[in-house]
Amino acid sequence: MKKSTLMGITAVLTLLSFASVSSAFYEGMPSIDGQIQNDEYQNHYKDSKINMDVYWTLDEENIYMALRSHSKGWIGIGIDPTGSLMQGADIILGYVKDGKLSIEDNFANSAVNHALDTALGGKNDILESAGSENDKGTVIEFKRKLNTADSFDRALTDREYKVLLAYSDTDDLTSYHPAKSTAFINFFSGKGQNEDIDNVGNGGSIVKTQNPTTDSIPTEKNRFQSFLTMLTGIISIAGVTIALLIIPERGGNE
Ligand code: HEM
Repeated sequence: MKKSTLMGITAVLTLLSFASVSSAFYEGMPSIDGQIQNDEYQNHYKDSKINMDVYWTLDEENIYMALRSHSKGWIGIGIDPTGSLMQGADIILGYVKDGKLSIEDNFANSAVNHALDTALGGKNDILESAGSENDKGTVIEFKRKLNTADSFDRALTDREYKVLLAYSDTDDLTSYHPAKSTAFINFFSGKGQNEDIDNVGNGGSIVKTQNPTTDSIPTEKNRFQSFLTMLTGIISIAGVTIALLIIPERGGNE
């Protein structure tokens, strides 16, 4: 085989490898597909008290958010309660059953209860949503406008909000939460801290690594991407090695 042909094959293999490896990483805005990928979101708040994660990214108009619990029931976030306990919080909650996400735009119409925005005269402002569930837990992802112009939603601006986090081990959205926590988060600056409502003392924090791999839920998609990345890496290394072995030997016989 000619040296130029070999070099061409090597170049193509290397390019293919880079293209495929880079396709495993997401650029731009998060994709609402029910999976949290490495570096998909710009911000990550980890609540270590209840072992729940909140990921989010803003664009000029929208917030993209992912919630993850290590349980198989409903999971939710409530923003800016104005009264006692949950009262007045702008809530989004959902669960995954038989591979299908059910998600609701709610409002806490009492200290200890919540209802659909639509039932209260508002609207459903969830623009996109997806979820996944396996033995390790639940992920729900959604996109909504920063300012939905619905009086049952909070218009998000650059300030700190009290945030309610909770999840359950059942899919019944009217069931009480065995896990609950409160945090203070500024969604614009990415700053946040835990309010230790039960004085348990283990709090939560904004995670700067932005790398959820260590405890992310393995999914078919994740596994396929890892396989693809590994395969292209092997092909690339094999291509370069073969070329390096053959080119010096044959180079002089052209
Ligand atoms: C129908 C479902 C729900 C019921 C029956 C319920 C009930 C209650 C009750 C009775 C309390 C006061 C007692 C306590 O602190 O444990 C409470 C507090 C709390 N709930 Fe809920 N809740 C529901 C849904 C939610 C959702 C969806 C969230 C999160 C988005 C949430 C987050 C919280 C938090 C963080 C607190 C503590 C607030 C504080 O102490 O400042 N709850 N809930």
